[in-house]
Amino acid sequence: MLSIDLTGRRALVAGVADDAGFGFAIAKALAEAGASVCVATWPPALNIFLNLIERGRIDDARRMPDGSLLEFERIYPLDAVFDVLDDAPADIRENKRYRDLGDFSVSGLAARLVADFGERPLDILVHSLANGPEVRKPLIETSRAGYLAAVSASAYSLVSMVQRLGPHMRPGGAVASLTYLASERVIPGYGGGMSTAKAALESDTRVLAYEGGRAYGIRVNAISAGPLASRAASAIGIIERMVEYCRLNSPLPEALAAREVGTAAAFLCSPLASAVTGATLYVDKGYHAMGMAVGGPQ
Ligand SMILES: NC(=O)c1ccc[n+]([C@@H]2O[C@H](COP(=O)([O-])OP(=O)(O)OC[C@H]3O[C@@H](n4cnc5c(N)ncnc54)[C@H](O)[C@@H]3O)[C@@H](O)[C@H]2O)c1
Repeated sequence: MLSIDLTGRRALVAGVADDAGFGFAIAKALAEAGASVCVATWPPALNIFLNLIERGRIDDARRMPDGSLLEFERIYPLDAVFDVLDDAPADIRENKRYRDLGDFSVSGLAARLVADFGERPLDILVHSLANGPEVRKPLIETSRAGYLAAVSASAYSLVSMVQRLGPHMRPGGAVASLTYLASERVIPGYGGGMSTAKAALESDTRVLAYEGGRAYGIRVNAISAGPLASRAASAIGIIERMVEYCRLNSPLPEALAAREVGTAAAFLCSPLASAVTGATLYVDKGYHAMGMAVGGPQ
């Protein structure tokens, strides 16, 4: 029987801080396929996440098909807007949520992985993080600083991760990131330069697929996911309406479950997808294919 078998492979999923988002669902699906899974968590959310785990608050979500609980091999701190620790300004490094964490930059993460598991520790890298401080502002009102912050946290972070973690990936490895239809179609309400960041992320996926494929023998793909009421998405302010709109107007008229993105990511990162790279895969109940709301103009 053809199955997704990731036994003996190690994954790092960056952007997990609770059980509600795509990162958690992907981590769980990868573990169900047999991978050992490390996660990387944004320092401001790290303690809350550790508390959720310690107090058993996400045990139901961590429950695996065999009854055991999903265990993370490591939980690393990561602030993906910093490539090296020296890039972090003093007020961040001295902040109480950061100061005891050591090197929380992207290169710090690479160094920890190598220290913990050796020079080539990684088969799968998932980038499931984004941040746009002005996401509620229309693009036309977005400041330069807000726009660049969105692109830095949500798009350049992937370049930085492939640059610094790519050399530590084993040949045949796979990178996946999460994008959104706002990169190519107008989604009112998804502002602050986040649509720009997703367009950059998708373009970078193609170029990184070429460069990473030639340099390290790895694949790089993106998943364009439908709307989900995650913690990050609630910052948009209208996520519940977006979910309902897509539910009503998609070819498959049902809400997207995070698990469906998890299993698609497990496929993309598995040997079953060994010829798939540089692609953006829609996992959105088909919403991207629609050109008009069901029922026509209202
Ligand atoms: N929820 C949706 O509707 C939707 C749709 C399509 C794509 N996506 C994308 O999916 C990905 C995951 O988001 P989600 O919706 O599952 O929410 P989420 O809240 O589960 O994940 C976002 C994570 O990014 C982390 N993060 C923010 N800034 C960071 C930084 N500087 N360094 C490291 N981590 C940082 C947050 O702590 C959080 O854990 C994002 O790229 C998002 O844009 C989401």
